[in-house]
Amino acid sequence: MRLISKKILAASVATAAILGMNGMASAQEVIKFAHVVAPNTPKGKGAEFFKKRAEELLGDKVKIEIYPNSQLFDDSKVLAAILRGDVQFGAPSLAKFGKWTKKLQVYDLPFLFKDMDAVSCFQNGEKGQELLGAMSDKGLTGVGYWHNGLKQLSANKPLNNPADAEGLKFRIQSSDVIAAQFEAVDAVPQKMAFSETYSALQTGVVDGQENTWSNIYSKKFFEVQDYITESNHGLLDYMVVTSTKWWDGLDPEIRDGLTQAMNEASDYANDLSAELTAEQRQAVIDSGETEVLQLSGDDFSAWQEAVKPVWAEFSDDIGQDIIDAAAACN
Ligand code: LMR
Repeated sequence: MRLISKKILAASVATAAILGMNGMASAQEVIKFAHVVAPNTPKGKGAEFFKKRAEELLGDKVKIEIYPNSQLFDDSKVLAAILRGDVQFGAPSLAKFGKWTKKLQVYDLPFLFKDMDAVSCFQNGEKGQELLGAMSDKGLTGVGYWHNGLKQLSANKPLNNPADAEGLKFRIQSSDVIAAQFEAVDAVPQKMAFSETYSALQTGVVDGQENTWSNIYSKKFFEVQDYITESNHGLLDYMVVTSTKWWDGLDPEIRDGLTQAMNEASDYANDLSAELTAEQRQAVIDSGETEVLQLSGDDFSAWQEAVKPVWAEFSDDIGQDIIDAAAACN
């Protein structure tokens, strides 16, 4: 076969691949997934797994593009961008939905979950599953929960007792519950984008922050904080969200494939989070750049006592039935 005929043959095969039986071109769905963390995190790896599985299951029908590290949108903009169709998936932390629904504030209540098994129990239970639909009136659908882990406190002074936090400025996510938590110990919360946190800690704009081992490690917060208290005092998990209109309008075959890929990615990310948390916690300790403090039983109880009034403050907004269902998972 001469070279020219080979080229023509290859071109016709490629054309046939993107034309349906009726000869009409079937458009490829380009699907953007934007998030704010590094690729080497439970969310970063979950998103990559989702891409791989969706493209395996659906072939050329979809192309998934992942944008990590706030490259496309930070969390204060991503939900509006999803509704506009500029991006199809985001996975903000559950602390960042306050403008859209008050119910998800349950996840920020301090000391609500004793460990990640309790979190899984609640998320997989009836109330947790209902909360995936908490923003349906706003046009947003939750398609899954992904774990990151429990939060630790860091600062440039040792935080053992709640009184140690008094007067210190803490960078927080955009959550009124988390603001109330720091106000309960007479500290000063400052809402700030994740992408600005490292430099705010480095330059002393804030004195401390709270985050998971994975975020503290992957964004190098430990390099600019002298102490980390292993407090496990709250949760940082995610809801993967999409636009209801876009999702419902998808070709059913594509929606089924994406649903399967998302379910598998959720299982994968949730299993991986425990492993990454342990690994990255150890890497922070081994770095020698910061001192990791353990709380005595009395100090742990003192923190719990100090922030407990936050639960009552938000119970009407959240719904006591939801709080009770979560607490029952411990
Ligand atoms: C933060 O802002 O600290 C987190 O929500 C970032 C993330 O997505 O884990």
